[in-house]
Amino acid sequence: MDKILVLDFGGQYNQLIARRVREQHVYAEIRSCQTPVEEIRKAGYSGIIFTGGPNSVYDPASPRCGREVLELGIPVLGICYGCQLMAVLEGGEVVSAGAVSEYGKAELTHTGSPLFEDVPAVSAVWMSHTDYVKTVPTGFSVTGVTPSCPAAAIADEERRLYGVQFHPEVMHTAYGKTMLRNFLFRISGCAGDWTMEDFVRASVEKYQKELAGKRVLCALSGGVDSSVAAVLLHRAVGERLTCVFVDHGLLRKDEGDLVERTFREKFEMNIVRVNAGERFLAKLAGVTEPEKKRKIIGEEFIRVFEEEAKKIGYVHVLVQGTIYPDVVESGVGEAATIKSHHNVGGLPSVIDFDEIVEPLRLLFKDEVRAAGLELGIPYELVWRQPFPGPGLAIRVLGEVTEEKLAVLRECDAIFREEVLAAGLERTTKQYFAVLTDSRTVGVMGDARTYGCTVALRAVDTDDFMTADWSRLPYDVLAKASNRITNEVRTVSRVVYDITSKPPATVEWE
Ligand code: XMP
Repeated sequence: MDKILVLDFGGQYNQLIARRVREQHVYAEIRSCQTPVEEIRKAGYSGIIFTGGPNSVYDPASPRCGREVLELGIPVLGICYGCQLMAVLEGGEVVSAGAVSEYGKAELTHTGSPLFEDVPAVSAVWMSHTDYVKTVPTGFSVTGVTPSCPAAAIADEERRLYGVQFHPEVMHTAYGKTMLRNFLFRISGCAGDWTMEDFVRASVEKYQKELAGKRVLCALSGGVDSSVAAVLLHRAVGERLTCVFVDHGLLRKDEGDLVERTFREKFEMNIVRVNAGERFLAKLAGVTEPEKKRKIIGEEFIRVFEEEAKKIGYVHVLVQGTIYPDVVESGVGEAATIKSHHNVGGLPSVIDFDEIVEPLRLLFKDEVRAAGLELGIPYELVWRQPFPGPGLAIRVLGEVTEEKLAVLRECDAIFREEVLAAGLERTTKQYFAVLTDSRTVGVMGDARTYGCTVALRAVDTDDFMTADWSRLPYDVLAKASNRITNEVRTVSRVVYDITSKPPATVEWE
């Protein structure tokens, strides 16, 4: 399998670069720029990409790799800071662009290079830099310019070292994909044969061998990651896997049953479902403060799981659904850090086991979904929208009661049905109902009502760090509102949340 190393210099797009490479069916991994050159040599990469970064190369504290990386005989593509670093390591000069710093679109004129095969002589690229390569190192030549950057692309073609001042990984670079493909296939000789099917097959074989005879435990939340991890491990170890599904009673309508049915009936997995709803509600009685609710739920979850794990007895392996962005966020290139999943956080400290297995460590979210489909997990589970660990408890404002949960479940189910019916479930990233603690006056028939207010929330986002409210069609909102007030009698008013994040958050609590 060909592998590309994305050497991280702190750029904001490092994950995006790896993503773009994997989209071409070439496996890419992000590692710290501090990775020893010997490790890089041994890993057998077909190509290396130096990412961008916020620093100036002439700042002594800027992140660097050794010049030896450029001498491994492996093709290198340096992007932005990566290009500047390459130039400096090779004896070139980088200076501040001062007033001619470039941000945004620029016009690249190239003079031909394997990197620019099939790229028109003039095309749009995305620039974001304050420094530039003033003196090109010996052996390098300028292969592209923009009106304000005299060395927008440089190359030492003999050594297969390429540098670009712009960002080929972002959409705004019109031929960025072609350039990356050129680097991967023409320059680095990758085959582009990394597929999800291969990933699944290779993982199953690996765990069959590594976990032979071992007992494995997995905490299922019903979320995408833990579901895919569980099914993959089940393929490898069969009935030696036990899944524990703690139903805290704060799931959406029919959700617990869907999870149980899928895993028990479709996959014939050993699944222990713990219906702990009453226990959680008892703990939540009288609690109105959001953070307190969260904490209670998190702690109770661990307690319930611990009790179940004790009944199962000793296990050798604990499965976690950690995915690649979690690994990267917890420090690139560093030793495995166990992610504190909202649902399984703290589990390692309460159960007795020898090792943790994280079968999805290498995958991005959409790759996890593709693996899920490959494993035969139903579409509705694979494309499940994110759902917070504390569940509906943070969507019932104020004190949580079974009655309020029942109202919210119905409203939420109606809203979800309508979004689904309109085919919008993949464009809007998260959509749900919130039961507010306001009562308002309404009129039904000839009578005055005084019922609850339900808010609908739908957001568009890439990373959930920021989000915009979804411009759902009025018809969809109208239908949902109509159905909610007709079908859920205690609701007298429906409002739509039109706040972005920031200043609001996605969830109301
Ligand atoms: P916020 O409300 O912080 O939500 O803008 C961003 C994303 O995170 C989810 N979320 C949570 N997920 N435990 C979780 O597992 C939590 O306590 C929690 N709070 C928010 C939220 O649903 C959204 O996708």
